[in-house]
Amino acid sequence: MSELRQQNPSAPTAPVPVRDRSEPRFPGGPIADPAGSHHERRIRSFQPRRSRVTTGQGDALTRLWPVWGCEIDGHEILDLAELFDGAPVVLEIGFGMGEATAQMAAADPGTGILAVDVHTPGQGNLLALAERNGLDNIRVANGDAIILLREMLPPDSLDGVRVYFPDPWPKKRHHKRRLIQPEFLALAARRLKAGAVLHCATDWEPYAEQMLEVLSAHPDFENTQQAGGYAPRPAFRPLTRFESQGLDKGHTVHDLLFRRVTEPGSHQA
Ligand SMILES: C[S@@+](CC[C@H](N)C(=O)[O-])C[C@H]1O[C@@H](n2cnc3c(N)ncnc32)[C@H](O)[C@@H]1O
Repeated sequence: MSELRQQNPSAPTAPVPVRDRSEPRFPGGPIADPAGSHHERRIRSFQPRRSRVTTGQGDALTRLWPVWGCEIDGHEILDLAELFDGAPVVLEIGFGMGEATAQMAAADPGTGILAVDVHTPGQGNLLALAERNGLDNIRVANGDAIILLREMLPPDSLDGVRVYFPDPWPKKRHHKRRLIQPEFLALAARRLKAGAVLHCATDWEPYAEQMLEVLSAHPDFENTQQAGGYAPRPAFRPLTRFESQGLDKGHTVHDLLFRRVTEPGSHQA
């Protein structure tokens, strides 16, 4: 008997309906807690948030998720050639609301973008943008990018990885949640093809410094900038929503473009 019932015998006995965590929020759509599988990581780089899904986003999720959506369940290796009809594939981690993703997909229709995030409204937004703009080179993945990389992508399969404005986790006790760390780099290097580029951008100066430090020190990557340091902003990267917020606060934005070396070290991911 629950503590509540012991204290108050007249409390209602009907069980409180508990939602099955694997139950889809939209018919045929993404599951409620994408990271809630046996592959769950204890330290995550994202904060699960409950955000309102608009009618338009919900409609896009219901109609388009079965066509362009991909659940990160850690159980299958994705066939990227089949998903993207043999096109080169770039993984974008943390696309937010997806406006920049849609712009990049429109500007480069010959490249497939596998866009991953846990944010349901953003997933619906990106699907709606893809449909509205006739973009067939975007697939949206729901869940933790680490599980996607670790369990569901084969070695040497990606033509690029983009991480734009990852959560900065400014408090020291949260730094362990930052995505760009040596372990992540070792994993990303195994999934990138030789010569493919990992492109990071951030407006959070201490995180930019950390990125530069770990990337420069990592044996599996080399800086595309011969002189070292940050790269000029590439023309193909659109202004993102978080970037715009950072610029409004007077932050400086840094881009980092590092190439996977021909033979990634002895890391086995
Ligand atoms: C600060 S937002 C940036 C969004 C977008 N790139 C922009 O610049 O506007 C970071 C995003 O990364 C997502 N994210 C963080 N860690 C992730 C992970 N491990 N897997 C998938 N998405 C992740 C968050 O849900 C969030 O939407």
